[in-house]
Amino acid sequence: MKKNRVCELLEIEYPIIQGGMFHLADARLAAAVSEAGALGTLSPYAGMPDKGNPVDNLRIQIQKIRKLTGRPFAVNILLDLPESGLMVDVLLQEKAGIAVTAAGNPGIYTELLHSAGILVLHVAGSVSQARSAESCGVDTVIAEGCEAAGRIAHDEIPLFPLIPQVADAVKVPVIAAGGIADGRGMAAAFALGAEGVQLGTRFVAVDECTAHPAYKQAIVESDDSGTIVTRRGTVPTRSLKSRFIEDLASMERSGAGKERIEEFIGSKRAWTAQISGDIESGDAYAGSSAGMIREILPAGVVVRKIMKEYQDTLRCNESLSLFE
Ligand SMILES: Cc1cc2nc3c(=O)[nH]c(=O)nc-3n(C[C@H](O)[C@H](O)[C@H](O)COP(=O)(O)O)c2cc1C
Repeated sequence: MKKNRVCELLEIEYPIIQGGMFHLADARLAAAVSEAGALGTLSPYAGMPDKGNPVDNLRIQIQKIRKLTGRPFAVNILLDLPESGLMVDVLLQEKAGIAVTAAGNPGIYTELLHSAGILVLHVAGSVSQARSAESCGVDTVIAEGCEAAGRIAHDEIPLFPLIPQVADAVKVPVIAAGGIADGRGMAAAFALGAEGVQLGTRFVAVDECTAHPAYKQAIVESDDSGTIVTRRGTVPTRSLKSRFIEDLASMERSGAGKERIEEFIGSKRAWTAQISGDIESGDAYAGSSAGMIREILPAGVVVRKIMKEYQDTLRCNESLSLFE
């Protein structure tokens, strides 16, 4: 495959990114993805014990990944967290090369990160967010549709209409995220104007991911209607259906207020499902792509499989040339 703008910019072989994943994207997972020629991403909260310090942990994970791979990797910074400034300090001190910012205004740190030679990729869920990220100087926009796992943008725009509108609106390369788990999805995203893809759920169900085996298995057993978005007041989130999520959805349908909903959710639901493996009582984030994930594989196999499927889709899909 010829290198495109995303490969050139990020110095990777394949334009596939393993997305930041709050409790899960640790050095082991990100290194496995980067070693395969794609881009692994670290999350500051991954790979540490419950109640650990995410700022110290980020430094540890960066030092760890450097022992596992000499290839590029990214660090996910959630801009609405109280510690985000301290995490940016760690990136500057450790001279990390790539930041993926999300959930906030990319204007806060982009100039500072650039002054240290750190590239900035920003997650946007709408054309206006993508335009504003570009005007803050980010190097690429990750257009994330509402098919994605975990927190999604308020406008809940699906990826198919989102990619071409964002690609028309900005000059920087667009990376597509949400609902992609194989090379067919990557080919579709590229046909719509993307130059890279970011996957989350597919990289939960891999050998190197620290997710509880029950969570990986629940993804494998999921089908097309296995996930649902709950609104949680102001934080729409896509998760696997479970007893907890169904109860939450029915509370929302019956018009329960924000306070009651927040009290019902509590604080440890993601950990309960994703690390402890109690899927029914917890919050197992998953994208609409979960239904097409059929097996748990090594991360490198996932990357190579996606690239082969991508090339096969372009070469072998007769329906693409039907109207020539
Ligand atoms: C378990 C899990 C946790 C996630 N946590 C984060 C996060 O902390 N920060 C972030 O920017 N995106 C997060 N995401 C979103 C991913 O980075 C990615 O954009 C998304 O999963 C793409 O959609 P897909 O799951 O359909 O592939 C998370 C996704 C999953 C599956």
